[in-house]
Amino acid sequence: MLGKGTFHISCNFVVEGQTGAIIITMASITIPARMDAHPNLRPLNILRDLPAVADLIETCFSSTMDNEGRQYVQDMRRAGRDDSFSNWANRAIESTSLPLSGYVWEENSRIVGNASVIPFRHNKQRVYLIANVAVEPDHRRKGIARALTQRALDHAREKKVDNVWLHVRDDNPGAIDLYLQLGFVERARRTSWQAHTDAHAPTLPADIVITSRHPDFWPNQLNWLSRLYPDPLGWHRNWDFKSLRPGLWNWLYLLFVDLNIRQWAAVKKGKLEAALAWIPYGRGESLFVAAGEESDPNALTALLLQARRELAHSHVTISLEFPAGKFDNAIGAAGFKSLRTLIWMQATS
Ligand SMILES: CC(C)(COP(=O)(O)OP(=O)(O)OC[C@H]1O[C@@H](n2cnc3c(N)ncnc32)[C@H](O)[C@@H]1OP(=O)(O)O)[C@@H](O)C(=O)NCCC(=O)NCCS
Repeated sequence: MLGKGTFHISCNFVVEGQTGAIIITMASITIPARMDAHPNLRPLNILRDLPAVADLIETCFSSTMDNEGRQYVQDMRRAGRDDSFSNWANRAIESTSLPLSGYVWEENSRIVGNASVIPFRHNKQRVYLIANVAVEPDHRRKGIARALTQRALDHAREKKVDNVWLHVRDDNPGAIDLYLQLGFVERARRTSWQAHTDAHAPTLPADIVITSRHPDFWPNQLNWLSRLYPDPLGWHRNWDFKSLRPGLWNWLYLLFVDLNIRQWAAVKKGKLEAALAWIPYGRGESLFVAAGEESDPNALTALLLQARRELAHSHVTISLEFPAGKFDNAIGAAGFKSLRTLIWMQATS
């Protein structure tokens, strides 16, 4: 049930809505689904709230936070201190990935809960990512995260947003349960991998040859990429596969936008087994593997080892995001460590 009618939360939570009836039953309280009527729930105020939300996120995610997460929290704190940024951001809420929009929950004038709403655009469609759902440990299991997430969903509906997504770690059953109850469904599981570059990473003693990417390989490469990085998840990438296309025009385009993409192919007995592209874009995952169901896993390992060697002069670590459970051994054999597996959930309405 999404955004319509009423929902129940457990009785240890006392709700006093400003509007509408509150029906108290023996085991639960029925409240209007529009929890923004609740005095403790309000929209994020980016001129004021970012430092407190950064603290909350740091507290709630400390056990799983990586360097990227720490950087994100630092960015949030800096943005919160910088008036000119806040003033600009107030006008630019729809065009930045910082959590400039969302909802917070206050207890005694202190923020104890948060849900951010981060807008994306893909194929002319508007997509919202609900992120940073966090509630302080002392205030958990009172329905606060449910109310915040539901309010974020209602907000998306009010804005007529086409798709609403969220990411949740596969080892977070409580949060998964919460999102399932709110009508989210699992669409994909993807693992993030990371390795240190190493100019002396081994080569594989195999019948696989690493070459540059030949134009003839492109149809296969594109087909494999489209399966491994499916379009419905494409809103999260800020580039598209066309930038990997062979040909003069694309080469000129990449030169123009100053994007130094590297590509390699793994060939066995004259046949393409797999391809690897490295796209230096942002802080996120930058290696993109193309391989088919029948591809030799050693081809993948050989390509990833090649990337570790060739990028050693410019990068300390390199990352890859890939469907969970696919070619895990091959990726691990190239010295990559699994950082996390995220479930991609989409709201249904
Ligand atoms: C996950 C989190 C946001 C839940 O916040 P919360 O306010 O305690 O959640 P709610 O009270 O709204 O829970 C609603 C329902 O979700 C499920 N749920 C939430 N937390 C749960 C847990 N730890 N274990 C099992 N079920 C849980 C339950 O079904 C719960 O209903 P119930 O209490 O009636 O059984 C909070 O535990 C948290 O901040 N965790 C650390 C950060 C995090 O993991 N965020 C999620 C990122 S995707």
